[in-house]
Amino acid sequence: MGAVVDAAPTLASNENTNGGLSSGKKVTVVFVLGGPGSGKGTQCANIVEHFGYTHLSAGDLLRAEIKSGSQNGTMIQNMIQEGKIVPSEVTVKLLQQAMEESKNDKFLIDGFPRNEENRAAFENVTKIIPEFVLFFDCSEEEMERRLLNRNQGRVDDNIETIRKRFKVFIESSLPVIQYYSSKGKVRKIDAGKPVEEVFEAVKSVFSSAVKNAQ
Ligand code: ADP
Ligand code: C5P
Ligand code: MG
Repeated sequence: MGAVVDAAPTLASNENTNGGLSSGKKVTVVFVLGGPGSGKGTQCANIVEHFGYTHLSAGDLLRAEIKSGSQNGTMIQNMIQEGKIVPSEVTVKLLQQAMEESKNDKFLIDGFPRNEENRAAFENVTKIIPEFVLFFDCSEEEMERRLLNRNQGRVDDNIETIRKRFKVFIESSLPVIQYYSSKGKVRKIDAGKPVEEVFEAVKSVFSSAVKNAQ
């Protein structure tokens, strides 16, 4: 009898916004989604300053993995060049590792989950359910303009790859946003405005999230 009780998994953690990592660390996560060039990274930097989160960009973690000379480097590089989504096991591991290593327990996870596979893998592995999902809504015309002016030397900021990334966003990422929308988790922001105006809208989302948590 005792053995049966001991072996039973604790499914309760799955239902909380505060999930656990394998180390037992409890964390709070906000997913930051939106098309390429919608301003996720720009706004995350502002949120970090005002609300004490740590910013984890899935794309930045993947680019760092290429630079580190990892075994997966060539595969990741090829996927990024084609605007394709890297297998979830790679990205989830990088995110988990970054959360474990951080002293903070509040994270903005930017550019993830990018597809249904990303979403399910993260949830299954970490049991973390996001507090909410910040969605930067922006026209393709504006995103294209921003990406072509970004000037960070990225291999994927060229018109050919940008078109592929837009297609992947519509086909694979929008369904994830719809999934969270059906759960009442999406906070949609008009991201086509100037940076300061977008941040005003972001601030009101985070301020009411703080109030609701009290
Ligand atoms: P993402 O992380 O969503 O791909 P970034 O934050 O890197 O987007 O922004 C893409 C480019 O657009 C950057 O060069 C950034 O400076 C610029 N940018 C970001 N937000 C705005 C905005 N609201 N208006 C105009 N340009 C912006
Ligand atoms: O978010 P960012 O624009 O930095 O992502 C750049 C690229 O990194 C994506 O186009 C994709 O190839 C890869 N990526 C991924 N899986 C994620 C996030 C980014 O494969 N969850
Ligand atoms: Mg970015």
